[in-house]
Amino acid sequence: MKIIGIHGSPRREGSSAQLMGAILRQCEAGGAQTQTYHLNTLKISGCQACYSCRQEGKEGKCAIKDDMNRILEDILAADAVVLASPVYMWQMTAQAKLFTDRLMPVLKQDYTSRLNGQRLLTVYTQGQPDVTKFATYFQYVKAMYSFLGFRALEPFVAGGLRALDDLKNQPEIMEKARQAAAGLMVE
Ligand SMILES: Cc1cc2nc3c(=O)[nH]c(=O)nc-3n(C[C@H](O)[C@H](O)[C@H](O)COP(=O)(O)O)c2cc1C
Repeated sequence: MKIIGIHGSPRREGSSAQLMGAILRQCEAGGAQTQTYHLNTLKISGCQACYSCRQEGKEGKCAIKDDMNRILEDILAADAVVLASPVYMWQMTAQAKLFTDRLMPVLKQDYTSRLNGQRLLTVYTQGQPDVTKFATYFQYVKAMYSFLGFRALEPFVAGGLRALDDLKNQPEIMEKARQAAAGLMVE
């Protein structure tokens, strides 16, 4: 089983990285191979709306040559994806949104998907302690990823996190994250 971790925070050692790391380590313990991408350190341009990925003969291939090409290849060949992002201004980070826009090549001309039902676990961290505060947005985004062809799992949301080491005071969240890994390890 191959699982891809996509990390959307600029803070490499932040809460979302720690939670995603705990989930991926749990999957590795169950025998999965994992590969992590830190979006903030990669060269990923915004989608240029050329629709080349939808032209006959070029289907599924992005015209932009940057780090997103290998991420797309990895996702198409993977069994599951973990996408972790802090909440910035009530939404995913710009890095995570850029990545999401560049998923356009997974859609065929008729809007069916080139994905084969890869499981997708979204992991959100937020300063706001009330984890229901942005739930409407998380569900909306989950529906969008389902439309793209992912088997989108219930989002994992952790609140009350601001400083890099805030998770140390909430060990129960790390434990819940490890438990969430089970949803990805289904054949
Ligand atoms: C630009 C910016 C915008 C933010 N917007 C929100 C927000 O709308 N709601 C919220 O609860 N926290 C917000 N936060 C706080 C982060 O979501 C929070 O600190 C998160 O746990 C950071 O995750 P990380 O450690 O993985 O980077 C914001 C932080 C930044 C830097």
